[in-house]
Amino acid sequence: MKKIELGKTGEMIPIIGQGTWGIKSFKGREYYENWKKSLRRGIELGMTHIDTAEFYGHGTSEKVVGEIISEYNRDELFITSKLFPMHLSYNSMKKAANKSLTRLGIEYFDLYLIHWPSPFISIKKQMNVMEDLVGEGKTRYIGVSNFSVKQFKEAQQYLKETKLVTNQLLANISKQDHIHNSLPYYCENNVILTAYSPLGHRGFNSLKKDDLIEKLQKVAKNHNAAIQQIAIAWLINHENVITIPKAFKVEHVESNAKAAEIMLTKEEVEVLDRI
Ligand SMILES: NC(=O)c1ccc[n+]([C@@H]2O[C@H](COP(=O)([O-])OP(=O)(O)OC[C@H]3O[C@@H](n4cnc5c(N)ncnc54)[C@H](OP(=O)(O)O)[C@@H]3O)[C@@H](O)[C@H]2O)c1
Repeated sequence: MKKIELGKTGEMIPIIGQGTWGIKSFKGREYYENWKKSLRRGIELGMTHIDTAEFYGHGTSEKVVGEIISEYNRDELFITSKLFPMHLSYNSMKKAANKSLTRLGIEYFDLYLIHWPSPFISIKKQMNVMEDLVGEGKTRYIGVSNFSVKQFKEAQQYLKETKLVTNQLLANISKQDHIHNSLPYYCENNVILTAYSPLGHRGFNSLKKDDLIEKLQKVAKNHNAAIQQIAIAWLINHENVITIPKAFKVEHVESNAKAAEIMLTKEEVEVLDRI
């Protein structure tokens, strides 16, 4: 699996990782075992960056990811989690971060993000907590998610010694705004854009035959690939972009990992850029 540098940290991160939103709570053992099988296969294929959040399945995702982590050397995996913006005080944000670590069964996150900008708590307060978590060794790196460029700049300005390494944003072939409008800023400032919902959340499985699908199919034919692989390849063929598709099915995990090998031509990227 190809890796790129996470900002200017020297840390190398896989261009394709694994998302975990959508895991359900209160399911039977088999459901979670199947899910773990897929995550393990992804890890085997180099998708060692696993993205979770306290919000996903109300902690269930972090718990299952924690069971997976316990099977590996901690250093083999890169674990991202996120602070949900419903915690209003410094203490409750700290408490939430510690609870996430407990559910994951780890001493530190590799990357910890503010999940959404909050209307209730200032960015300054959130950044105080994040920088303190770095100082206490609870997270190696910090970032944000769903922040506009303006909010990102504001957040960075409140950090004394720490750089935000990523903004995790909705970006896929049918939602290209951040790729065209925000990515240039992140490239100039050595910040990774982590593209979430790279397959439009539903996997582009039930798309009607329209311009998007026709263009994807045409490019897919050139590479003997599936349209989902082309959608992922389109994202990671952009400089400074990594992504985190979610797949419960092992065959989807395998297909997604292969997308890392697809090199699109300049012309193909241009065609897909204009969808
Ligand atoms: N920061 C945020 O606010 C935020 C928001 C949304 C998502 N995220 C993160 O981003 C991750 C990915 O986004 P997402 O979960 O919204 O959706 P997604 O990755 O865009 O799509 C997931 C869907 O695609 C299907 N799929 C996966 N690989 C496929 C393939 N090769 N061929 C066909 N179908 C395929 C999956 O099916 P199966 O599961 O059946 O295999 C699932 O139905 C999340 O899990 C989460 O970690 C972050």
